[in-house]
Amino acid sequence: MPLLKLLHFMALIGWCGALLYLPAMIAASARSGDDGFYRDHPQLTRTVFNLLATPAALLAIGSGTALFLRESIFAPWLIVKLTTVAAMVLCHALCGVLILRRERIAEAALRRDCLLIGLLLSVSIGATLWLVLAKPF
Ligand code: HEM
Repeated sequence: MPLLKLLHFMALIGWCGALLYLPAMIAASARSGDDGFYRDHPQLTRTVFNLLATPAALLAIGSGTALFLRESIFAPWLIVKLTTVAAMVLCHALCGVLILRRERIAEAALRRDCLLIGLLLSVSIGATLWLVLAKPF
């Protein structure tokens, strides 16, 4: 397998894995009442965001852009894929906002927002993978 595509896959696994995990981590750290590992270690979510999710996102987008330039692909599926990737980037940024909000105040509404972002992420990651693997148009 070409090394650039391998790099793209490795970065994707790290990025998508961290993105699916982050909303659950933030929601767990915002839960009040019982003892919670994530609630007692709020800096863990920031560490996963800063040291895993963000570098993996930069690597995934950089290697994807290099693949696109090297192979000169201008197919419609790639344009639509870039739109679903933009939705992933938006959710990434929203996870950062939730982490900052969580550090100021623990609120029940935060857990609802985590659920919404988690759902949006599952749909956009699924759509991206379907577009690139099925290449429907
Ligand atoms: C700006 C971001 C991205 C760009 C520019 C990009 C671009 C590309 C390009 C040009 C290819 C080669 C396609 C081919 O050889 O037919 C590719 C492969 C692939 N990309 Fe991305 N990509 C990006 C992000 C993503 C994301 C976020 C995912 C998954 C969630 C993803 C999943 C894949 C997969 C699974 C392949 C392999 C497809 C195959 O070999 O048939 N990419 N990408």
